[in-house]
Order: sequence, then structure tokens, then C-alpha cells
Amino acid sequence: MRLAVVGATGEVGRMMVRVLQEQNVQPAEVEFFASAKSAGAEVEFYGKKYRVKELTKKAMEQGYDYLLFSAGASVSREFAPTAAGAGSVVIDNSSAFRMSPKIPLVVPEINGDILRGYRKGIVANPNCSTIQMVLGLYRIHERYGIRSIVVSTYQSVSGAGKNGMNELEEQMKGHIAPKKFVKQIHLNVVPQIGSLLENGFTDEEMKMVNETRKILRDPEISIWPTTVRVPVLYCHSEAVFVETRKAFDLSGLEAAVAGSEHVVLTQDMVTPLDAAGTDLTFVSRLRAFDDTRFLMWNVADNIRVGAATNAVRILLKHGELN
Ligand SMILES: NC(=O)c1ccc[n+]([C@@H]2O[C@H](COP(=O)([O-])OP(=O)(O)OC[C@H]3O[C@@H](n4cnc5c(N)ncnc54)[C@H](OP(=O)(O)O)[C@@H]3O)[C@@H](O)[C@H]2O)c1
Repeated sequence: MRLAVVGATGEVGRMMVRVLQEQNVQPAEVEFFASAKSAGAEVEFYGKKYRVKELTKKAMEQGYDYLLFSAGASVSREFAPTAAGAGSVVIDNSSAFRMSPKIPLVVPEINGDILRGYRKGIVANPNCSTIQMVLGLYRIHERYGIRSIVVSTYQSVSGAGKNGMNELEEQMKGHIAPKKFVKQIHLNVVPQIGSLLENGFTDEEMKMVNETRKILRDPEISIWPTTVRVPVLYCHSEAVFVETRKAFDLSGLEAAVAGSEHVVLTQDMVTPLDAAGTDLTFVSRLRAFDDTRFLMWNVADNIRVGAATNAVRILLKHGELN
């Protein structure tokens, strides 16, 4: 297998390098790319040191079996089509292609089947807050049909990459004014992630709306998100309120969540510090007053479940089905 990671020096890219090894993906040839700024930096992979190369069109024309992209939407738009045209399977973490009708948007546990026969081209990795939410809900949707979702997120600063983490750390030392976030994040919560759109929602919120419908293959689900940045380093948390089409009983709901792949249902309260560094989505505080509406608390590591691990799971699923 010929494999390359684009954005290998970033938060997600570095985690991809780790998760590839944890999942025992053993490419015969491997390369790591970033911007010119990081060319020459070192990446360690299975104990061997590699030099990071500058991303170029020429490199993308070589063709790889798998290319994992996590360098932002503009870089993906510029380079991923060239790589796909050269016969590579490009697993793209950015938002660039997620809503393109012909591009699969994949959470392997839920809709990995659509990768069968998709031999080359771009596969989109969904937004981090969407991935963990749909993992906690897909079996419930299969059993009871979800009519609507109201979700408030509590998203960590690592969701904004290494600059987001640096901003919180610098503000903790009293150093800098808001840059990456629209208001101070240290000792605060900021109810705007991404840019504000004309409809009053943010683009992060609209990702949760549109991507959830595409992954669950149900354009009728009504989704009402409020995405909020909190001063936490790793893991996004979500308070999720759901209305179902069919009536449920709590034990049926619990069985649905417990039967979801890579999801843990627990009676313990799970916080970001508990979930960080794991590949699981934790659902706790599942509760209801009646039989068509319930609440849950959902926590997962945004860099792993929400990005790197999902991308590597896409690679593994693709290999299994093709
Ligand atoms: N953080 C998350 O929770 C999360 C979750 C899901 C998806 N994503 C998506 O994943 C992508 C990366 O996010 P991140 O959090 O890892 O960001 P990050 O920490 O800022 O890293 C960005 C990476 O992209 C590289 N890069 C930037 N400009 C480039 C260029 N012109 N050519 C080649 N490489 C370039 C950077 O290289 P240099 O070191 O050379 O600057 C770095 O390796 C984004 O699309 C983001 O939306 C992030």
C-alpha cells in the first residue's frame, strides 16, 4: 500500500499518524506533507523518522492507494481533485466536499456500506460534532425514527486546531486578545463556532444539520443546533434532545445505544477528561419524561473519534469492501 498524510504536522494529522500505527496499518511506502513552512520537520512512524515534504500538485499526480487530507478546506479544494484524478482514494477531513452529492460522507459504523465499489476518488470525513452525535443516535433512528433533534454543543479548543489550543494557553498566561475565537475563551464560553450566516445560524451549526441528514439518509429530520466553544483542551460534549416518530420505552432506547458500534452507554457521568484519548463515544444521562422525547449527554474525543480515528476507520472499511 502507498499512503500519504497531508497536513501531517497539524492536530488531526499528527493524530492520524498515531492512529494508523495503533490500528496496525502497515503501508509499504509512506509520505508526509504540510506547507512549505514545515518542510523538513520530522515525523516518526513505526520507529522510523521521515521528513515532511511541501505539498505540491506534482506530488499529488503520483497517485497513492490512500491519501489522508487534514490541511483545511482550501488546501483540499486545490489538491484533492488532482490526487483523486491520479487514481488515489482521498479521505478528506475538511468541509470542502462533504455536501457534494456524488461524494460519500462516511461514518463507517453507520453508512460504510456506500464505500463498496467506490474504487477511487474523494471520501469526505464529517464534521467532528456531527460524527459523535450520529454515533450516539443511529441505532435509535433505525428503531424509532428520529423526527427532530435539539443539540447544544460544548466544543473544545482543539477543534480549532493547534492555533486554537495556543490561544487558550496564551490567554491563561494573560498574554493575548481573541484571534481564532470571536471572544476571550479563557474563563468563558463562546456561543459562536465558525461564521454567522444570514439565517442566524453559524456554518458549524449548518454542518450538523446537513451532514446528519446525509449520513442518516433521512432529509426529513429537523435539527436545531447551538454550537458553543468552551475552555476545554480535548473532547466535545453535547446535550442532545430528541423527538422520535415511534414510541419507545427506556429499556429499548438503552438497548439501541448499547448496540451501537464503538459507543458506550454508561450510568456514570462522563466528562471530557474521562473520554480524552479514547476511540469511543460515551453516552450517559439518558432520560425521558414520556415515550417520544428523551435527552442524552454525549462525549467523545474530537481529534480521534471526530477526525483521525474516523478517517482511519474509513480507510480500513474501504480496504475491506474493495
Ligand atoms: N481539530 C478538529 O477537531 C477537527 C475535527 C474534524 C476535522 N478537522 C479538520 O481537519 C483539518 C485540519 O485541522 P487541524 O485541527 O489539524 O488544523 P491545524 O492543527 O491547524 O493543522 C493544519 C495542517 O494543515 C497544514 N497546512 C496548512 N496550510 C497548508 C498548505 N497550504 N499546504 C499544505 N499543508 C498545509 C499545516 O501545515 P503547517 O504545519 O506547515 O502549517 C498543518 O499540518 C481542517 O480542515 C479541520 O476543519 C479538524
